[in-house]
Amino acid sequence: MCGIVGYVGNQPAAPILIEGLTRLEYRGYDSAGIAVMGPNGIRIVKRAGRVRELEAAVPKRFGGKTGIGHTRWATHGGPTDDNAHPHADAASKVCVVHNGIIDNASTLRDLLSTDGVQLRSETDTEVIAHLIARSTAATLEDAVLEALQSIEGTYGLAVIHVDFPGRILVARHGSPLILGVGDKEMFVASDVAALVRHTSQVVHLDDGDLATVTAAGFQTFTTDRRTTHKSPTSIEVSAHEYDADGYAHFMHKEIMEQPAAAERILRGRLDDRFGTAHLGGLNLDAREIRSVKRVKILGCGSAYYVGQLGASLIEEVARIPAEAEASSEFRYRNPVIESDTLYVAVSQSGETADTLLAVQEVKRKGGRVIGLINVVGSAIARECDGGLYLHAGPEVAVASTKALTNMALGFALLALQLGRVRDLSVSDGRRLIAGLRRIPADLEQILATEEELAVVAGSLADAESLFFVGRVRGFPVAREGAQKFKEISYRHAEAYQTGELKHGPLALISERVPTVAIVPSDELTDRNVAAMHEIEARKGPLVAVTHAEADLGSVAAVRVDVPKNEPELDSILLIVALQLLAYHAAVKLGHDVDKPRNLAKSVTVE
Ligand code: F6R
Repeated sequence: MCGIVGYVGNQPAAPILIEGLTRLEYRGYDSAGIAVMGPNGIRIVKRAGRVRELEAAVPKRFGGKTGIGHTRWATHGGPTDDNAHPHADAASKVCVVHNGIIDNASTLRDLLSTDGVQLRSETDTEVIAHLIARSTAATLEDAVLEALQSIEGTYGLAVIHVDFPGRILVARHGSPLILGVGDKEMFVASDVAALVRHTSQVVHLDDGDLATVTAAGFQTFTTDRRTTHKSPTSIEVSAHEYDADGYAHFMHKEIMEQPAAAERILRGRLDDRFGTAHLGGLNLDAREIRSVKRVKILGCGSAYYVGQLGASLIEEVARIPAEAEASSEFRYRNPVIESDTLYVAVSQSGETADTLLAVQEVKRKGGRVIGLINVVGSAIARECDGGLYLHAGPEVAVASTKALTNMALGFALLALQLGRVRDLSVSDGRRLIAGLRRIPADLEQILATEEELAVVAGSLADAESLFFVGRVRGFPVAREGAQKFKEISYRHAEAYQTGELKHGPLALISERVPTVAIVPSDELTDRNVAAMHEIEARKGPLVAVTHAEADLGSVAAVRVDVPKNEPELDSILLIVALQLLAYHAAVKLGHDVDKPRNLAKSVTVE
């Protein structure tokens, strides 16, 4: 959420900053700006709107080899030119870009105003520039440290100062920052996406780290001014993984990548001999697994819905009571943390503030947390006691797809391993392994029906309001289906447990309100068919996302058949059909699929 870039070296900074911002635009796209330090001081250009509008506004001759840039997702103050970052003091001596939230910004704004400082924006960030500019400290490092002492909140911060040319000062507390090490040049970014074209050598800063960055290298230190020594590590992602590869949208590319992503998460983790999974990174031995009395899954948004799917898998396969909770709620209710509960954090980005804070709450109270995380080395991954990486590859579209499928597969692996230490038989273990091995091919089969799904999506796109309904295993599928649909099509889509429809929402069903019903071929098919009859009797149009094996009787639903796998694993596949429905509805409506309005990837604020 919000993107930061910085460059110091021997090349003109502006084009590098603009290119970096383009790569980071998925993290926030309501305004963008750059500040470049040249021989005549700092020049700033910032614009409301997309990076391409900023690029058009940057003069051709925009010299300077040190600069910082930002693409914003508004928290304090609307998306205007003035509120866009970078922010400077009155004399434009100091310029800052910032991710995170300054909690005491309004107090600091009042104090500065009382002292005669004219604030030019409504943001929390601007105060940082003024505080640094007012410092009388002899070094930039001390001036920034002094300013940070007045600040409460979270930050990923990059600062340039005219009195200290050729230098960027960065600080991290609760919002990611990475340094990229080049040849006589250095880069700063909030996300590796902005760095992969320039270098594979990166330094992940930790909370509490600051760094002085010059063309010659970097020096890290702590808030109490102790020098620290951090060595660069190699990033494994290649630049082309951040390209759309000829697809119209990253979301489409990422949906299509799912069979390969599924192969990756399963590779080397299935053990036919013992009918189990091998997840060495869990850091749990058999005795510890046997002592787990409950599993609690924590995630946000779609990760929470997949967490619900994971809970039902764990309960069904491992016979351990399991539930999921939205991590945005968890910490606020002073949760009881039990030593025999296994907490599981699930996150694509590994940065989501609500999930990170929930993990910290569990750990503070002595609980054990494992993570199902996509981004290697991310804040949540580092906070967990163990876990498994999802290996979905970089996800650029704001609406998550391949990472969610791999989360569901991660839960299946976890359930299998927990189950086989407990009461799951070896034959059931082998049955599930065989099912998991079929998943990549099943995914291919669903993706091959894209054209038919696009036609169905077209019929749903014009509805003002839709229901997505599912029962038991199908309910998380319905929730995720509704989430994806509303997020990118801007249609109101509501998920309900199928059996709950008749307890109220049925009043809304009419010929203008379609229902997408999740109807796997299982022991509940008849119940689901009965509910579809009730909808049909109220003239509600129906789409059934189902299996060819399911007998829907006389219900006149439009059928979307997905391949049948093992009953425990079917939900994973049903969700993928719903991704394509949402995608094609949004395309038909002409929306900016990868950058839905008001949203951004990686929600690093509470
Ligand atoms: C929806 C979506 C969001 C994320 C949520 C958690 O398509 O992407 O709901 O699932 O913000 O993000 P992560 O998984 O990064 O913690």
